[in-house]
Amino acid sequence: MACRIPEVASLVKEAQEVFQKVFGGAALVAAVAPGRVNIIGEHTDYNDGFVFPMALPMVTVVVGRRVEGSRCRVHTTSPMADKPHQVEFPAPSPSAPLQPGSPSWANYVKGVVANFQGSISGFDAVVTTSVPLGGGLSSSASLEVATYTFLEALTGIHAPSLREKALACQRAEHDFANMPCGIMDQFISTMGKQGNALLIDCRSMESTLVPLSDPSVTLVITNSNVRHTLSGSEYPTRRRQCSEAAAALGKQSLRDATMKDLEEHKSSLSEEAFRRARHVISEIGRTQQAVEVLKRGDYTTFGKLMTDSHYSLRDDFEVSCPELDQLVVAAVEVQGVFGSRMTGGGFGGCTVSLMKVESVDKFIAHTRQKYNGSPTFYVCSPSEGAHSLPL
Ligand code: GLA
Repeated sequence: MACRIPEVASLVKEAQEVFQKVFGGAALVAAVAPGRVNIIGEHTDYNDGFVFPMALPMVTVVVGRRVEGSRCRVHTTSPMADKPHQVEFPAPSPSAPLQPGSPSWANYVKGVVANFQGSISGFDAVVTTSVPLGGGLSSSASLEVATYTFLEALTGIHAPSLREKALACQRAEHDFANMPCGIMDQFISTMGKQGNALLIDCRSMESTLVPLSDPSVTLVITNSNVRHTLSGSEYPTRRRQCSEAAAALGKQSLRDATMKDLEEHKSSLSEEAFRRARHVISEIGRTQQAVEVLKRGDYTTFGKLMTDSHYSLRDDFEVSCPELDQLVVAAVEVQGVFGSRMTGGGFGGCTVSLMKVESVDKFIAHTRQKYNGSPTFYVCSPSEGAHSLPL
């Protein structure tokens, strides 16, 4: 059986009840922002390439209200968050900017408060989430974007554009969580639309909605429920390797390079740098092609591109792990599964598989039988990006 995904309304209710208990009185403002699954286009966003994610029905909710003075208090209901589950900090001022610290979950909130384009005074807030933490489904971006949306609702000051809002949340992650992420996660959490995936050109920052609402096919996310410690340290290394490879090819970024360029410069690159660049260049091409074939309803080719993406991430970019590889191999053995790949940064977390709706049960049973761990499954359709909710 796939996991039941809690309704947004029930998460909001839970947050309101906790708010009442912890802070007393009623929360007056609520905001919600989704996690994401990247369907194809992995490790391409920080290479100015294309990505193709969709917003998930799993979301982070922030409810709260303004208070007199400048004290901000935030409480999380997430049992997975590091302790303490409640923090207090002063609203930032030019003479006293906010600093990251511990607990780490609060850094995402503080980072957004620090990067909010408007002045903030005191508030109390409660955070609840249905995005699995550390599963590669952007629980952090959903917390950042939910926090920004909450602050917009609280202050009435809105970001000049959705792009500016996503970029402010990305800065929060860079500066307060020390994670040099690309723009994908914050963009899709901000701009997702129900029934659509989003093709994002990470160079121009233009995005295009692509319908993904055929009732006969679905995406299933499989959480390996493992996370290797490498995930934090290897990401900046990959970023650096990519920019070094681009420089060796005489390009501003790998977006500008072709396979021909790469072959011509083979001797000036290490074997490893060559493979890193080959992944990025081929993945950018696969992503563009995938969107074209999807528009024609060619799921077979789309699925093959997904699986090719996985092999490239495994062999050339080396960000997969045995558990994810096992899940992908098991997935593509099932009739009616078009393709499967790891999603997100890698080294654990989730795979995403495209299949006929009628194959879902068989897929789940087969994966359980083949995988040496305890996976969880989410049947997901593209959901709405961040928004505030009336209380
Ligand atoms: C993480 C980052 C994203 C992106 C992916 C890999 O999720 O936050 O910006 O780079 O890894 O595609």
